[in-house]
Amino acid sequence: MLVCTKCGRTFDEKFLLRCTCGGTLLVKRHYTSFSPRNYLDMRRYIDYLPVDSVFLPKLTPAITPIVKDSEDLYLKLDYLQPTGSFKDRGTYVTIAKLKEEGINEVVIDSSGNAGISLAAYGLSEGIKVHVFLSYDANKEKISRLSALNAKLHFVDGDRMKVHEEAIRFSRDGNLTYVSHWMNPYFLEGTKTIAFEIYEQIKLPDYVFIPVGSGTAFLGIWKGFKELIEMGEIESMPSLVAVQAEGFESLCKRSKRKNTLADGIAIPEPPRIEEMKQAIKESSGFCISVGKEETLASLHWLRKRGILVEGTSAVTLAAYWKAKELELIDGVSLLILTGSAKNF
Ligand SMILES: Cc1ncc(COP(=O)(O)O)c(C=O)c1O
Ligand SMILES: [Zn+2]
Repeated sequence: MLVCTKCGRTFDEKFLLRCTCGGTLLVKRHYTSFSPRNYLDMRRYIDYLPVDSVFLPKLTPAITPIVKDSEDLYLKLDYLQPTGSFKDRGTYVTIAKLKEEGINEVVIDSSGNAGISLAAYGLSEGIKVHVFLSYDANKEKISRLSALNAKLHFVDGDRMKVHEEAIRFSRDGNLTYVSHWMNPYFLEGTKTIAFEIYEQIKLPDYVFIPVGSGTAFLGIWKGFKELIEMGEIESMPSLVAVQAEGFESLCKRSKRKNTLADGIAIPEPPRIEEMKQAIKESSGFCISVGKEETLASLHWLRKRGILVEGTSAVTLAAYWKAKELELIDGVSLLILTGSAKNF
């Protein structure tokens, strides 16, 4: 079933973005034990995905490698997904749910990676995808979207204006809006990151995750929570929410702007209360980083052959900052979420 995070009302598992009270929704199922299948891709966790497996897309997301850099630093290369970002995990489950409901035309607003992922999966599964984005969106991302046959709608305004226009268009045209910011099925896909971490290295002390709308952050939280509920683990790692200066929603808003992380430039995410709860429950914290530190991180990663975008490199900048401020003591894992679009 779906449960409202605000009032607790429950719904059948339909494609639904919000409760009647306006609250966001989460999928709630009862799993009694953790026994992954033998597949060596995301189908490994098929029994924990709330969709009928016959509808799962043919393009299956990967199980991504974890690289050990030192005794206390690990990197999960989640940018090695079919369309170059972790978003494919959420899209995979979302597309299956849309197919189950016979929906073949959808609307999304995205600064890039979520739109690219939906466009690619939509193209391969016969679902028409409208993408709303701002005129100043990354040019490389725009050309990828065009190559994937997405119907592009440019909006004059900031990220929140793009969001409003996408909602208006879908309402006027009676089309399904599949915002990854709210869609509960998206988190069902991203939760598999936690399952993989657990199978690959057991439990690090800290997991650093870039946070805009929170789909990676909340998915990872949900994945670890389910492992606790299944009796597989006793507690979860501390989840560190990494944000960019000038666009913080959890950390204090800075005056300076870090413009190198467009994927997390989301000042008012709808799932903010859930993110605060995830930080509290996991004894985590929030940390915000600037442009110079992000550039230094991109450079450090590139020297190791790791070609990611600024939105991913912020996790390394945050790790360095947390070390310097003596906020961490133990093993840290950084989630590298998106590939470099140019280098
Ligand atoms: C590469 C990358 N990392 C992280 C994020 C942040 O994801 P979320 O907005 O779900 O917190 C995004 C979002 O677009 C992204 O593109
Ligand atoms: Zn409600």
